[in-house]
Amino acid sequence: MKAVAVFPGARSVRLIDVPEPRLRKATDVKLRMLEVGVCGTDREIASFQYGAPPPGSDFLILGHESLAEVVETGKKVRALKRGDLVVTTVRRPCAGTRCRPCRAGRPDFCLTGEFTERGIKKEHGYMTEYVVDDERWLSRVPATLRSVGVLVEPLTIAEKALGEVWQIQNRLPWMPAGEKVSSRFKAVVLGAGPVGLLGAMALVAKGFRTFVYSREPLTSPNAEAARAVGAAYVSAGTDTLESLVKKTGNIDLVYEATGAARLSFDMMPHLGVNGVFVFTGIPGIKCPIEVKAELIMKNMVLKNQVLFGTVNADPGAFRRATADLTLFLRRWPKAVRSLITSRSPVENFAASVLAPPAGIKNVLTFPS
Ligand code: BGC
Ligand code: ZN
Repeated sequence: MKAVAVFPGARSVRLIDVPEPRLRKATDVKLRMLEVGVCGTDREIASFQYGAPPPGSDFLILGHESLAEVVETGKKVRALKRGDLVVTTVRRPCAGTRCRPCRAGRPDFCLTGEFTERGIKKEHGYMTEYVVDDERWLSRVPATLRSVGVLVEPLTIAEKALGEVWQIQNRLPWMPAGEKVSSRFKAVVLGAGPVGLLGAMALVAKGFRTFVYSREPLTSPNAEAARAVGAAYVSAGTDTLESLVKKTGNIDLVYEATGAARLSFDMMPHLGVNGVFVFTGIPGIKCPIEVKAELIMKNMVLKNQVLFGTVNADPGAFRRATADLTLFLRRWPKAVRSLITSRSPVENFAASVLAPPAGIKNVLTFPS
């Protein structure tokens, strides 16, 4: 079967032929890949800046954003059956018997750094025709998500992040935990890629008055998608951060989804009273940059601010992402579908994996 493989040693990325995997355990499930999304992480791996092949292999099969169909189940598999749609999780626990997060099923909080990530770190990914995985790493999605289920994994970033935001904001006795917030609460999303736009949908659905700030022009499909879900779109091409803040008022939440350190640290002094700033992007390490450290530190203290970073994601976040994507699709069908700009057969991986991103989310498809 076909697979998209990165050979870091030989510095090449190519379509290879690998044997079809078979069930090994009674809890294994065999999946036929339907769609795999391409993201910035894949492009970094394919340009040999990130990621690692499994031990003993000179290549890594790419891909971590999946939508698949169950084709075969092991004897002990109860929760899944042939024909079910599933999304595969990415992070897998380390072997450390003393790593409490991993032993508790939360490798997203792994302490040893020895966790693996399918398609990223030391385990093959999903840009291939068939995959076998233990049922505990699979998250079932309803058939109604066939057209957009590949967006579940990128949405888990927002789900985990917002779960933590509610826990943090539990410190404010008047903050309604779990329910909707009032539109007096303002959120700014930095970046209008898939992670930013899915985050914006989650924030709008939660009740926030949401502003998306990004470099794409006001006429771009990204801006269009933001407005279609009820967020305000402010373009960095026409507005500075200062003029953005004039429109927003006190900012309760910044959801960073660009991986751009300059923009993020320039935004920090604008975070409001009792505000939370969430980082989700992973910047490349380049030159040091100057930041308004004293102002940021002063604000953090005098305004009770919290800054935190988050990496996806736990099985609960996958379940919440599935439920929320179902709601988003019902509420904004056109906008949700518009996030997927292109679908191309896996053979044509080069156009989305090796080239700069075109549009919002590019997806690879597999022969049926
Ligand atoms: C993936 C995460 C992963 C992160 C860092 C992201 O693109 O969605 O699952 O933890 O990259 O490797
Ligand atoms: Zn990704």
